[in-house]
Amino acid sequence: MIQSHGGTLVSRELSSEERKQWLQKKGEYPVIKISERTFSDLYCIATGVFSPLTGFLTEADYDSVLTDMRLSSGLVWSIPITLSIPPEQKNEISSSEYAFLQRKDKTIVGVVEIESIYQVDQQKEAQSIYRTTDPNHPGVCSLLQQSSLYLGGSIWLWERPQLDPFTNYHLTPSYTRGYFQEKQWNTIVGFQTRNPVHRAHEYIQKVALETVDALFLHPLVGETKADDIPAEVRMKSYETILKHYYPTERVLLGVFPASMRYAGPREAIFHAIARKNYGCTHFIVGRDHAGVGSYYGTYDAQHIFKEISSDDLEIKLLFFEHSFYCRRCLGMASYKTCPHSDEDHVILSGTKVRQMLNTGEVPPPEFSRPEVIRVLMDGLANQ
Ligand code: ADX
Repeated sequence: MIQSHGGTLVSRELSSEERKQWLQKKGEYPVIKISERTFSDLYCIATGVFSPLTGFLTEADYDSVLTDMRLSSGLVWSIPITLSIPPEQKNEISSSEYAFLQRKDKTIVGVVEIESIYQVDQQKEAQSIYRTTDPNHPGVCSLLQQSSLYLGGSIWLWERPQLDPFTNYHLTPSYTRGYFQEKQWNTIVGFQTRNPVHRAHEYIQKVALETVDALFLHPLVGETKADDIPAEVRMKSYETILKHYYPTERVLLGVFPASMRYAGPREAIFHAIARKNYGCTHFIVGRDHAGVGSYYGTYDAQHIFKEISSDDLEIKLLFFEHSFYCRRCLGMASYKTCPHSDEDHVILSGTKVRQMLNTGEVPPPEFSRPEVIRVLMDGLANQ
C-alpha cells in the first residue's frame, strides 16, 4: 500500500469524552466564525485528506509553500490551507491558547491551537498560486474576499457533519485504504472531477483502468463557482453511468470534500497528493486540469510535474491529451491518436453544454451518454 504523503495518515477528530472536556472551557476561549470553504478544509485536515497537515499553515509553512511549493519540512505542498481571521479579533485571539471554530449555522465544529498569527500579501499569494491577480478569477476572487490576517495552528474536528446529501459517499482515506486492501487492489487510479461525466472523461478513465487494478471515481463536492453544475446532479450522473457502463466490481465512487480553487497547475499537484492519501497509486491529469477560462495553457497542469521529482510525490501521474469523439474514427480518440481534423471531432465546451441544456437542446450521444443527459436535464429543471 502506498504511504500517505509524509508517511503518517492524520486523524484529528475529537471523541465524545474530549468534546465534553472542551465544552467545560467554552467561555475561556474566543470563537472564530468560519466560512463553508474553511469548514471543508478543517474536515479534510481532520480526516487525513490533507496529510501531513495537522492544522492551518503557520507563517513559516505558508511562506515556503508560496515560494518553493514545499512545506518548511521540505515536503512538496502546492496550495496554502489557511485560516483567515477578522482583524478586530486579533487581540482577543493573540492572548489565547486556543479558539473554537464556529460554522455559519452557529454550531461549534472545531478547535484550533493558536500557534502563529500573521499578515499576508494577498496579491503575492494570488500571483504565486493562481498565476494571476485578476479578481475575475474565481479562486482569486474568494481569496480577496477574506481578511489578510491568518492564523496557523493544529486543529481538532468536533465531529463529522451529519447534514450532507452524500453521507454514504463520504469515504475517508482510512476507509478507502482498508477497502482497497480488502479488495486486493494493488494499483488504483484516482479521478478528480467537478463536472458531470461525459464521454471524454469516460474514455480517459477506462484507458487508465486498462493498466491498473481499479478506478476510484472521486468527484469534488466542496464549494465550486456558481455556474458549475450542482454536486447533487453530478453525483447522480455518476450513479447512472456506473449502473449502465462501468465494471462496478473494479470501481469505487466516493466524494472529495474539498472546495475547488481553480488553481490549474498547482491544484493538480494538490489533487494528486490528496488522492495518494486515499491510497491511490495513480492519478489522471488530462487537459486543463482544475483550470478556468483561459488563465492556464491546456497542458500547464501536466508540465508543472516536471518541477518535482517523482520520488517526492510517489503517486504516478497518467497524462492524457485532449480527447473527443471522432466521426471518422467512429470512436473516442485524442489529438495524439487521431489523424483527422476538428470538423470530424465532437467537442463541446462546458459553457456550450450548459447553454444547450438550458434551452432544452439535447447534446449528442457522441458527447455524453443519453442516460446522463436525462439526469442533467431533470436536475436543471428541478433547480
Ligand atoms: S477539473 O476542474 O476537475 O479538472 P473536469 O471535471 O472537467 O474539471 O476534469 C476532470 C479531469 O478530466 C481532469 O483531469 C481534466 O484534465 C480531464 N479532462 C476533462 N475533459 C477532458 C478532455 N476532453 N480530454 C482529456 N482530458 C479531459
